[in-house]
Amino acid sequence: MLKKIIIAIDGPAGSGKSTAAKNIAEKLGFTYLDTGAMYRAITFLALQKGIADDVNSVIELARKISLKLKFENGITRVFVDGIEVTEEIRKPEINSKVSDISKIPEVRAEMVKIQKRMGSEGNIIAEGRDVTTVVFPDADFKIFMTATLEERVRRRFKEFQEKNVQISFDEVKANLQMRDEIDSNRTVSPLKKADDALEFDNSKIGIEEELNILLDKIEEIRKKV
Ligand code: DC
Repeated sequence: MLKKIIIAIDGPAGSGKSTAAKNIAEKLGFTYLDTGAMYRAITFLALQKGIADDVNSVIELARKISLKLKFENGITRVFVDGIEVTEEIRKPEINSKVSDISKIPEVRAEMVKIQKRMGSEGNIIAEGRDVTTVVFPDADFKIFMTATLEERVRRRFKEFQEKNVQISFDEVKANLQMRDEIDSNRTVSPLKKADDALEFDNSKIGIEEELNILLDKIEEIRKKV
């Protein structure tokens, strides 16, 4: 019997963490934990309640919020307080606010608590900005995913076009640059490569090739643990 393992992937927006994590989860039958979806969900609720700029109210919300993630047919369905917000949390207005909400230490503490609980079952693949450094520092396999800014913008812009969201290439670029800046420079749990993470630049690698490389590495690791 193979031992249960934890795989953690960090990296900036548009680096392809979600694609890799979903593909691996589907292939291996692992639980997929999209931690960004949790920060997006609380941002959505804070904006909806009109309290997104009031730090204390956001903290109170983080302590009370009921969050459910269901990975089904290749998508993470997200429910806050019982209401599905899967599509809403991917909208540009959430992208513009989520880095501000996720830099609040108390909000992070609440989210990390839930994430650790989810990881305790094992055979999980988690992706985010701090899963290799803070949430699962003892993960069996840590990956730091990267791609050039141009490539990341191109991917996000394509996703918006496919959803018929009216946004320009330059707006997507400005939002990604802003999020990179806030996510990497915040005081609590900034996005950074863990010393023992594999740095994986997929700017010029196709999705299939990437999956095969990562699956080979995971197999090697599972034989050792
Ligand atoms: O991966 P994403 O684009 O869905 O993440 C949305 C935002 O949430 C990201 O800009 C920063 C924040 N985030 C975070 O602070 N920590 C995580 N573990 C995941 C996401």
